[in-house]
Amino acid sequence: MAITEPTSAHSDGAHPDAAQSDPARPAAGTAPPVINQTPEWAALAAHHAEIADVTLRDLFARDPHRGETFVAEADGLYLDYSKNRITARTIELLVALARRAGLADRIEAMMRGDRINITENRSVLHVALRAPAGTSIVVEGPDGEKTDVVPEVHRVLDRMTEFADRVRSGVWRGATDQPISTVVNIGIGGSDLGPAMAYDALRDYSDRSLRLRFVSNVDPTDIREATVDLDPATTLFIVSSKTFTTLETLANARAARQWVVDALGEDAVAHHFVAVSTNAEKVAEFGIDTRHMFEFWDWVGGRYSMDSAIGLSLMIAIGPESFRELLAGFHAMDEHFRSTPFERNLPVLLGLLGVWYRDFFGAQTHAVLPYSQYLDRFPAYLQQLDMESNGKSVDLAGRPVGVPTGPVVWGTPGTNGQHAYFQLLHQGTTLVPADFIGFIEPNHPGVGDPDQHVLLMANFFAQTEALAFGKTAEEVAAEGVAAELVPHRTFPGNRPTNTLLAPKLTPFTLGQLVALYEHKVFTQGVIWGINSFDQWGVELGKVLAGRIIPELTDPAAKLAHDSSTNALIRRFREARRS
Ligand code: F6P
Repeated sequence: MAITEPTSAHSDGAHPDAAQSDPARPAAGTAPPVINQTPEWAALAAHHAEIADVTLRDLFARDPHRGETFVAEADGLYLDYSKNRITARTIELLVALARRAGLADRIEAMMRGDRINITENRSVLHVALRAPAGTSIVVEGPDGEKTDVVPEVHRVLDRMTEFADRVRSGVWRGATDQPISTVVNIGIGGSDLGPAMAYDALRDYSDRSLRLRFVSNVDPTDIREATVDLDPATTLFIVSSKTFTTLETLANARAARQWVVDALGEDAVAHHFVAVSTNAEKVAEFGIDTRHMFEFWDWVGGRYSMDSAIGLSLMIAIGPESFRELLAGFHAMDEHFRSTPFERNLPVLLGLLGVWYRDFFGAQTHAVLPYSQYLDRFPAYLQQLDMESNGKSVDLAGRPVGVPTGPVVWGTPGTNGQHAYFQLLHQGTTLVPADFIGFIEPNHPGVGDPDQHVLLMANFFAQTEALAFGKTAEEVAAEGVAAELVPHRTFPGNRPTNTLLAPKLTPFTLGQLVALYEHKVFTQGVIWGINSFDQWGVELGKVLAGRIIPELTDPAAKLAHDSSTNALIRRFREARRS
């Protein structure tokens, strides 16, 4: 692949850190180093032994300007990483580790369209989904055929724009000639979580006269509750599935189709169903006219697809202009990632800090705590992005990784979490590094007296301060607390956090945030030498479920599972028979 119009600060298109890469770095496509056997890893382990007991109180006392120096910024998105258990030396050593892992080359390989998803022999080009018109990314397919993917991306974006405008303006009509009032996206995983999260996040930018709903679970409750109060005559279904073979999505789509056909007849399907997929054949087989299909490509991973046609429902909700602002935010972060030295590179810093806690402090989880109700579903979105990408235990060469990889990612919006699990974050025995995400301007200024956004943000700043510095037994005792209560009211502190502060939650900011985490996950995958772009771990359960389906409906079906599974199936079958 070649980027004919490099937008990075480096005219040769190379990452600035490429020049400083260790000569022993792996070439793209070769086996990664066994990372915990490198001198850089050993240096980090020795450094960890030295500073493991140093507290954030010590670090801030030693360097009063720490809060102004351990910071980085990308297009207004500000990262304060000073409240981490690190020194400048830690960053130096982590950056050296990134160089040893060949991160700069891997970034270039991804952005060049190399087939870095080696187990599926695919390019990984979600960055092309937000490449500006007029740029060019030429990809060579397995058959040697070369395609410039950027014009393709913009052709589909234009089709989406036209369709979204028609639905929003009421030009697109249902079978009874009424305009659409509700759009229901049917999809799961990457074909659901992205648009569902972004619709919530950007509700303030959405057309309030249109309703958007998301159906993902094969549990019949989901489709039933989504449609129970809807009129089929004014409902549009978008069936979103990369493969168009996913059990949950096809079952829900069939139920929705039946619901429409029962009310409006077979001919109504063309007016009430469109598809988003890479698989035209399966879309046609399902009975959706492929003229009403919006395509994407096998070089877009499901969990990296919210800015492809998978975002069609979102585009209908927020409008094409806001959708393009979202893409601009993604692209700005892509450019930051590809052209900023590692020491100031937001995704690289977040990725390396995550490795520091996961591998050297043994932290098993990572919390993401957005101080915005609109980002309610952001942690759930990140769960797939991070855990499906980096929940791996063998490296690119098929060897055991040998070090802990992706953490358990979770979180909910502040301040709700404060009244639930923050007790454990402050005084529990588990180390939980956390990202706090907040916004300077509210989406709804002037609500409350005193201003509720100020109340929210006071909590935002207070929590990272409390987590970092805690409250010593002496401080508690000095407040006159009874001696027997002092241990209970002491806060150990020293709990690391990152603070991400953005001007306002806008489509652009959301794009930046999602791309930030995409590239953080990429950075960590490179350090661990794993393939962040396949998901074989979800397959076994799917195959076993396929085997069990007929066993649940045929009481005579022979059961050949283990004794636990056999007994459970028998109990289910017998209860259903009586
Ligand atoms: O659960 C595995 C998975 O393949 C995800 O990676 C993907 O996002 C989801 O299923 C949905 O797949 P599809 O878009 O093909 O229906």
